[in-house]
Amino acid sequence: MEKLVVTGGTPLKGEVLISGAKNAAVAILPAALLIDGVCTIDNVPNISDVRLYIDILKSFGAKVEWTGEHELTLDTTHVSASDKSLELTRKFRASYYSLGSLLSRCKLAQVGIPGGCNLGARPMDLHIKGFEALGATVDVSQGKIIAKADKLEGTSIYLDIASVGATINIMLAAVLANGTTIIDNAAKEPHIVDVANFLNTMGADIRGAGTDIIKIHGVEKLTGGKSYSVVPDQIEAGTFMLAAVATRGDITIKNCIPEHLESLTAKILEMGGNVDISSGDEIRVWCNTRPSKAIVKTLPHPGFPTDLQPQIGVVLALADGTSIINESIWESRFQYTAELNNMGAKITAQGKSAIFEGVENLYGAPVHSTDLRAGAALIIAGCVAKGKTEIYNIEHIDRGYENIEKKFRLLGANIERVSY
Ligand code: EPZ
Repeated sequence: MEKLVVTGGTPLKGEVLISGAKNAAVAILPAALLIDGVCTIDNVPNISDVRLYIDILKSFGAKVEWTGEHELTLDTTHVSASDKSLELTRKFRASYYSLGSLLSRCKLAQVGIPGGCNLGARPMDLHIKGFEALGATVDVSQGKIIAKADKLEGTSIYLDIASVGATINIMLAAVLANGTTIIDNAAKEPHIVDVANFLNTMGADIRGAGTDIIKIHGVEKLTGGKSYSVVPDQIEAGTFMLAAVATRGDITIKNCIPEHLESLTAKILEMGGNVDISSGDEIRVWCNTRPSKAIVKTLPHPGFPTDLQPQIGVVLALADGTSIINESIWESRFQYTAELNNMGAKITAQGKSAIFEGVENLYGAPVHSTDLRAGAALIIAGCVAKGKTEIYNIEHIDRGYENIEKKFRLLGANIERVSY
């Protein structure tokens, strides 16, 4: 077992290079199952979710190998729906993207009902609604989901909720369908655009990704034979932007897309921080005063991302005044506040809202990472706190952040990964 040990008190300063986006990579990898051929994917983050997905793709018959530090080469000429991966696919939610791809390619797909971060109920009704609208039958029983179809016919699908997963999964299922599929009220996250760009590079015909209407014109096959580079991770970039504010440091986040972080930039400026995006693919964030209170409401993109909610929670725990966060996406994403309260914060979480009474200081304590982004928030809190913080359950963090302690150490953090 491993834990992270952080001794706080040092403002974080310097440059950090952002990796490829986890939430794009865990969709692009299964999207490659649609290709009758070979492709190369670059800027892939070397994180445990990606390594797990490589094993899942291999269980479907794909050949996958690392051909560079962050580059994968895949041969998906011969793939089939296999029940060998049911155990593997239960381990995290993004495994459900294999359903859309294999349903499209093989007209049969089966995955174990996925697990993943415990953020509340994580239904898949909109995914299933989309598959059935395209002509598939979907059976959910005995811990697995089986989707099959004689053929898939393009149709119009309205998403009751702008779901990231359902938008991507339906897009995957529609790529090789007969005719045109329209997804209405589609989610608009940057990783959805990245999946569409990847598929179009490989021969698909998808238009409107990034808007709330996506049109997919079915094609015969995807031939691949091209390479694609994964988009920089908007959430990792935002994590370090908030680390700069929380520690009153000065960080330049390199290899990112400032347009993907406009809602966070606006909130940081509102709280009295400073942001410079004049260099195009980097963001400089610095703060040398106590942040002022704020009200944050998480929303689908381009609203404030739920995946940055715990991280801004650390800033609000130390802000001047009383702040509020309304979490509109997940029922249970305030578990981290109990850990911050153990460090001296004064947070009252109730359902989908939390009230933060700003305190002057946090104090080091043993804390537990309840999910990926909560874990990142606890690292930021440890960097700010007086004394030593020990963070347990860091396997959650390793799912989505590559070399996290090395990146923080390069910014001046006193942080070590310790086996115990
Ligand atoms: C993706 O999850 C991300 N995961 C999550 O990031 C992120 O928090 C979420 O999008 C919102 O941005 C990946 O991309 C792998 P949703 P997803 O479908 O697709 C409800 C992280 O930290 N819903 O957009 O599962 C659902 O309950 C992770 O990187 C239905 O009701 O999220 C939720 O309330 C955590 N029925 C809302 O929609 C459905 O069929 C948004 O969920 C699907 C979703």
